[in-house]
Amino acid sequence: MQWLHAQASVNSGIKQEDAFSIDKVNLYERLGFDTFVKLSTNFYTRVFEDDQTWFRTIFSNSTKEEAIRNQYEFCIQRMGGPPLYGQRRGHPSLIGRHSPYAVTKEAAGRWLYHMEAALDDTHEIDSDSKNRLFNFFKHTAFFLVAGKELTNNQRLVGYGGCKHRVGEV
Ligand code: HEM
Repeated sequence: MQWLHAQASVNSGIKQEDAFSIDKVNLYERLGFDTFVKLSTNFYTRVFEDDQTWFRTIFSNSTKEEAIRNQYEFCIQRMGGPPLYGQRRGHPSLIGRHSPYAVTKEAAGRWLYHMEAALDDTHEIDSDSKNRLFNFFKHTAFFLVAGKELTNNQRLVGYGGCKHRVGEV
């Protein structure tokens, strides 16, 4: 787990202390429920309308509405709000939940491109909050890429899994 975070920092350029500066303030109290709904709506509207078919089709097994709800409930919970995501979906287990998808460096780049634009389009988000959120998203995107690469490599060498298997966010 720590190795994945270290790898995520190397590949994203975001130090862990910056990635987790979201924990120094309560962004849910600062920004409110509706702002997170708006951020996720802005983000997934861009994703589902992406002219880059290779990226858009990664999301083709989800409806836009469910993807928006999954994301804003996760963000609200992670940013200090009520545990809506956990109550409905259980533990986030982000690496495991992303295992069906092609989470490559290119996909992380495109995901972050849309997220940065969505943050800019969500005018309720002040610049300090935007920086904290974007650092967290960037680090986590590359954490997921590192998790995917690790599990792919383990599969290549016939790794069967054990109690020390890859940790989860
Ligand atoms: C690196 C690029 C990424 C790709 C390609 C990707 C792709 C996906 C896809 C295809 C889904 C399914 C949509 C749905 O039905 O909810 C999903 C779900 C989700 N993603 Fe990502 N994602 C990425 C990064 C991230 C990041 C950085 C975060 C959080 C910081 C994140 C958090 C989530 C959450 C919470 C869900 C809902 C999982 C569930 O409840 O099933 N993703 N992602």
